[in-house]
Amino acid sequence: MLRAKNLTKRFADVEAVSSLDLTVESGETVCLLGANGAGKTTTVNLFLGFLRPDEGTAEVCGVASAEDPRAARREIAYIAENVALYPSLTGLENLELFDRMARGRRQLDFAAILLEHGLTIEQAHRPVAGYSKGMRQKVGLAIAAIRAAKVLLLDEPMSGLDPGAAREFTHSLLAQRSAGRAILMTTHDIFRAKDVATRIGIMRAGRLVEMLDAADVDARDIERIYLRHMQDEREASDATN
Ligand SMILES: Nc1ncnc2c1ncn2[C@@H]1O[C@H](COP(=O)(O)OP(=O)(O)OP(=O)(O)O)[C@@H](O)[C@H]1O
Ligand SMILES: [Mg+2]
Repeated sequence: MLRAKNLTKRFADVEAVSSLDLTVESGETVCLLGANGAGKTTTVNLFLGFLRPDEGTAEVCGVASAEDPRAARREIAYIAENVALYPSLTGLENLELFDRMARGRRQLDFAAILLEHGLTIEQAHRPVAGYSKGMRQKVGLAIAAIRAAKVLLLDEPMSGLDPGAAREFTHSLLAQRSAGRAILMTTHDIFRAKDVATRIGIMRAGRLVEMLDAADVDARDIERIYLRHMQDEREASDATN
């Protein structure tokens, strides 16, 4: 469903993403780990068609995002690190509005959907302007959950969530994977990655340097492998300085 082929993006003299080959199929969750600046967000933005690649392609359900970004985005539910909502509307109104824009008017128990994603009924009826970051992320995930998109793209969706909210978020992601979605998520949280992923990729300086089957490793293994790659990067940059 998601396919990057030789995907490459440069900014001036920085190669943010280098010759990336990656596929994410229906029912898979791939987590991308990597230090700040490794190219994770750039990869997500290439799939969304927010950026054009310099070489290669990013495809969503067979559509090249650079060629037809609107068609690609129709297949995608996207959650950024800070979900953008209408601040003067309540959480409930936001969910209803986003759903109506995507699917037209329909009868759904929107309040129940927000409760499932961890908001209280009192919070659901408050304007989003007064929400904490975690509350906004919960609304974002609820919006994504009821979209008919085949693909879920998540860019550090759990950063700043309290442990209870992160756990609910994890459950929701597992449910979405079981429903057959293809999920690509960036994160710095190795333990959460282990919980939600079927495969875990490690990016370093634009390159995908490792792809692990989550079933084959525990979180300590992932941490060890991750740190070894980061050590390699420090040594490489020491050698050139
Ligand atoms: N719009 C831009 N203009 C110039 N350089 C950019 C731009 N976006 C990203 N970069 C550069 O591309 C590289 C990859 O950035 P990216 O945001 O993809 O990293 P990341 O892995 O998401 O990092 P983080 O963990 O901090 O979110 C970095 O060197 C960054 O400075
Ligand atoms: Mg990023």
